[in-house]
Amino acid sequence: MIKKILITGGLGYIGRICQFILSTHGYETFVIDERSPEQYQGHSSFMQLNLLNKSNLEQYLQHNKPDLILHFAAKIEVAESVEKPLYYYQNNVTATINLLDAMQKWAPVPLVFLSSAAVYAPQTIPLQENSILDPQNPYGESKRMAEAIISHCVNIPSVILRLFNVGGALPEENLGETHEPETHLIPLVIQKIFQNKPVNIFGNQYPSKDGTCLRDYIHVLDVAEAVRCSIRKLENLSTPQSFTYNIGSGNPTSVLEVIEEVARQLQEQPMIKWQNNRPGDSAILMANIQKAGQELLWVPTHSQLSDIVTSSIQFQRTKILRAYL
Ligand code: UFG
Repeated sequence: MIKKILITGGLGYIGRICQFILSTHGYETFVIDERSPEQYQGHSSFMQLNLLNKSNLEQYLQHNKPDLILHFAAKIEVAESVEKPLYYYQNNVTATINLLDAMQKWAPVPLVFLSSAAVYAPQTIPLQENSILDPQNPYGESKRMAEAIISHCVNIPSVILRLFNVGGALPEENLGETHEPETHLIPLVIQKIFQNKPVNIFGNQYPSKDGTCLRDYIHVLDVAEAVRCSIRKLENLSTPQSFTYNIGSGNPTSVLEVIEEVARQLQEQPMIKWQNNRPGDSAILMANIQKAGQELLWVPTHSQLSDIVTSSIQFQRTKILRAYL
């Protein structure tokens, strides 16, 4: 029976929301993160720990034996990874090797790993888990390498979730995207409209109907639900195996469509600044989510673009209000 769950990178956007949801479902959660928890008021026990510090990590696992590990800690920005590839391989690959090595020694328990749609070769039809992998940037390559390493550790049962573009928030719990600086489209567009500043669009010659990139947006609450389904799957395994699932909505949305939806809800049109293509961007990332539906019994229920945007706006508003308090 899985009860104690360790979350690496549990102070991040997805980590905090999953930690909250899992604790409301009765799991005992433990968080490790390289950051210090300035405003952290979660209910889990927390330890500041960088996975690159192998001896601290081993000591931690030796003394805190979890029943399952959620490995969420990672660097996640495509454009930054193009500028700093080694930093990405170190934090996403070396750190994963350290974790697996420490697990082999002290806690060979099931693992849920957050991977990314960025592992795929771009294609115009929905991506399936067995579609060709050909990452377009060091970030995606680091995730592909980490996936391979995890699946080769045959004594560790694992679920690898390839997340598409995660958005949305849990405003009533004051949980949402707070990257510093923010680079993700939805929170950025909301912030720019609030600040009366222009919104950059990177590229208008992509093969989509309006020329901007297509992405597949998935609500963070649906990601948390996919994590719960993965835990259940790992709990019921009789022999160690590794599974991989796409976690997206299955609906392609262009950059312009996202901006239009935010503008519609805020009733304010931003000024647009057309920029060159962002290095490393895939033209289209769109998921086929049948496998997760069949094998994890998971279906997204919160991932209408309008719902994702509404919750993000509410969260960003609360963030601004809190900054003034
Ligand atoms: N974009 C703009 N202007 C901006 C910001 C983004 O035009 O100011 C565009 C990007 O060029 C891209 C799209 O909006 O076409 C989405 O960009 P994001 O930065 O929001 O997200 P990415 O698709 O680059 O990457 C995100 C996560 C990755 C994950 C990927 C999976 O950051 O970790 O989704 O699809 F792998």
